[in-house]
Amino acid sequence: MIEPDQMHHQLRGHDLNASIRPMSVLDVPKVCAIEQRVTPAPWSEQIFRDCIHVGYTCVVVEHAGDILGYGVLSSGAGEAHLLNLAIIPERQGAGLGKGLLQYLVDLARARGVETILLEVRVSNVIAQRLYHQAGFNEVGIRKDYYPAAHGREDAQIYAMTLTDRL
Ligand SMILES: CC(C)(COP(=O)(O)OP(=O)(O)OC[C@H]1O[C@@H](n2cnc3c(N)ncnc32)[C@H](O)[C@@H]1OP(=O)(O)O)[C@@H](O)C(=O)NCCC(=O)NCCS
Repeated sequence: MIEPDQMHHQLRGHDLNASIRPMSVLDVPKVCAIEQRVTPAPWSEQIFRDCIHVGYTCVVVEHAGDILGYGVLSSGAGEAHLLNLAIIPERQGAGLGKGLLQYLVDLARARGVETILLEVRVSNVIAQRLYHQAGFNEVGIRKDYYPAAHGREDAQIYAMTLTDRL
């Protein structure tokens, strides 16, 4: 079984070779600095530390010592939830997000996960396209799920059944 604490996984972007490795608490300040740049309601450092401590799969994409992105996945009882996924703005559009998502989906499949779920802002059409292309389907809406600049924003719920894709 592929486990992130056992390997550094090579991730091939269009113009560079990056690797995926486990996120440590020492990475959290850098991860959080990226988080503040890429999302309107960034997670705090404490949330990332809590995710590491409870044993969620927390990984970073690294190239030449720089963190270019990260992902957080929880899994258990046949279900996984993709809780966070981001690539720094300067490296977006180079295939890294797709590669990181594929890595996390493969990891969930190797753990016997049957369904992987995630939420995405209704305004985040780039991420929606990424998830559609990866094989996710929209299965519902969570009203007012996210804080937004003016009030709240709905989330689309996406799901992928992994057992169908074996
Ligand atoms: C969503 C995100 C992780 C995608 O990562 P990325 O490395 O830029 O994406 P990739 O280059 O791997 O592209 C993967 C797919 O995403 C979509 N995509 C990426 N950039 C796009 C753009 N500018 N316009 C439209 N679709 C785009 C496409 O479907 C693309 O596949 P394709 O190249 O085969 O058409 C990244 O944009 C990001 O970090 N955004 C901010 C944080 C965020 O929204 N996270 C998701 C929360 S649910």
